[in-house]
Amino acid sequence: MSSHNTTSEPSLPIAVIICSGRQPRVGDQITSFVLRTIQSTYPTSSLTLIDLLSWNLPMFNEPTIPSQIHSSSDYIQPHTRAWSEEISKYKGYVFVTPQYNWGYPAILKNAIDYLFNEWKGKAAMVVSYGGHGGGKAAVQLKGVLEGCRMSVVERMPGLHFPDERVLGVAAVGGELSLEGEGAIWGEMEREEIGKAYGELLGLLWEKEKEKEKEKLGRVAGA
Ligand SMILES: Cc1cc2nc3c(=O)[nH]c(=O)nc-3n(C[C@H](O)[C@H](O)[C@H](O)COP(=O)(O)O)c2cc1C
Repeated sequence: MSSHNTTSEPSLPIAVIICSGRQPRVGDQITSFVLRTIQSTYPTSSLTLIDLLSWNLPMFNEPTIPSQIHSSSDYIQPHTRAWSEEISKYKGYVFVTPQYNWGYPAILKNAIDYLFNEWKGKAAMVVSYGGHGGGKAAVQLKGVLEGCRMSVVERMPGLHFPDERVLGVAAVGGELSLEGEGAIWGEMEREEIGKAYGELLGLLWEKEKEKEKEKLGRVAGA
């Protein structure tokens, strides 16, 4: 899919999600890097940072299967209502996830499983990171998001920690070199992120056009 030109069209609200909740961590630094990279390529994008750590959701504790719920007021837990209202605000999501034991973190699965219709029909993009770029986590996450009926961008940038030293720094949540001279990632990674985001915008606008067509069809048929 070609990348999308945003200059002539209003920007759609998109959440960029920090998917690591451990302390210490580097997920916050890496997600900010992804966000800055997107913003530099698409300055008019409307991006909001969501940090799963600050949401502090307990293990899933709703009595009703989320796919059967169509209004946030039907959840019994106040934290689910708040999470539902937050996720409902966005048309698309950029998940920035580490790889834990070849999968993605439990905090992320828990946050996804709380909801269903809030995700359904939306579009998503996955950026992973890890010793080998976290590609196994990305593939698993893509499958789960598709299970929630989301359209997921095929291109999934994987950010590799370049050597053992950086892996060690990341393990203890140390400061990663992400900008300027000696930065661990450069033009290649930025370009991959930019291209994936372009594809996400493409998916989003296709969805908007479909909705518009449906609306016009309803008016014509009324
Ligand atoms: C529980 C756990 C499992 C991990 N498993 C993997 C793995 O499968 N592959 C990998 O490349 N790195 C793995 N790592 C190393 C992480 O990539 C690295 O610690 C990174 O900093 C985690 O991201 P975070 O700091 O944002 O949580 C693992 C780390 C943790 C805490």
